[in-house]
Amino acid sequence: MNKKKLIAGNWKMNGSLAANESLVKALAQGVGAPACDVAVCVPAPYLAQVQALVSGTPIALGAQDVSQHEQGAYTGEQSAAMLREFGVRYAIVGHSERRQYHGESDELVAAKTAAALKHGVTPIVCVGETLAEREGGHTEEVVKRQLAAVIHVNGHCISEIVVAYEPVWAIGTGKTATPEQAQAVHALLRAQLHHAASDHAAGIRILYGGSMNAANAAQLLAQPDIDGGLIGGASLKAPDFLQIIAAAR
Ligand code: PGA
Repeated sequence: MNKKKLIAGNWKMNGSLAANESLVKALAQGVGAPACDVAVCVPAPYLAQVQALVSGTPIALGAQDVSQHEQGAYTGEQSAAMLREFGVRYAIVGHSERRQYHGESDELVAAKTAAALKHGVTPIVCVGETLAEREGGHTEEVVKRQLAAVIHVNGHCISEIVVAYEPVWAIGTGKTATPEQAQAVHALLRAQLHHAASDHAAGIRILYGGSMNAANAAQLLAQPDIDGGLIGGASLKAPDFLQIIAAAR
């Protein structure tokens, strides 16, 4: 099977015109011909800038959110069609920070997933349990519920999405899931995908996210059901992000 891993940086609300330029130039210079797919998901105001910077490089452009609506009176939102105009390939959908701080429900995440797919933007759908949910023994139930919400989005094949398992307790905390803990959840998600779309499940990329860094990436990426990474903090440092890219083969 020919399934390249995907290493996607999630810059979150970080960056400036000057910092973005030096970061992307350093990435472009160091990335060579990567064995994996590479993307950077940047804050919306910088889409045009980073579109120009990644042009002609193997780095794809991503956004961090997308509206579920087509157009109209939705102040502050960006539609998938608008993102496409800036060459956006991927959009993170349902990141735990949006679920937590912006009250995004499973239904909303599913609607955003459908809107992205409709316009040819690949959604990176995030699922993951909180510490309390893990400690209460609810990890499986939570991630399965979150994934189930996006499995049947209208008229689109599930194989067009990317899934990211991001345990909330591991995000930005320096506490990574062990490769075994991550693999165990990835295997559950894979089985659920297989049940929903047996022909396509093996081809769907399931990324791990949550304090992935240059030191732990190789071990995580060696797990059979970990098909890449969604990287926050370490994606802001070119040498670290490049090391993670090099580990993904
Ligand atoms: P982190 O963030 O790598 O800084 O933990 C990952 C994410 O939230 O996507």
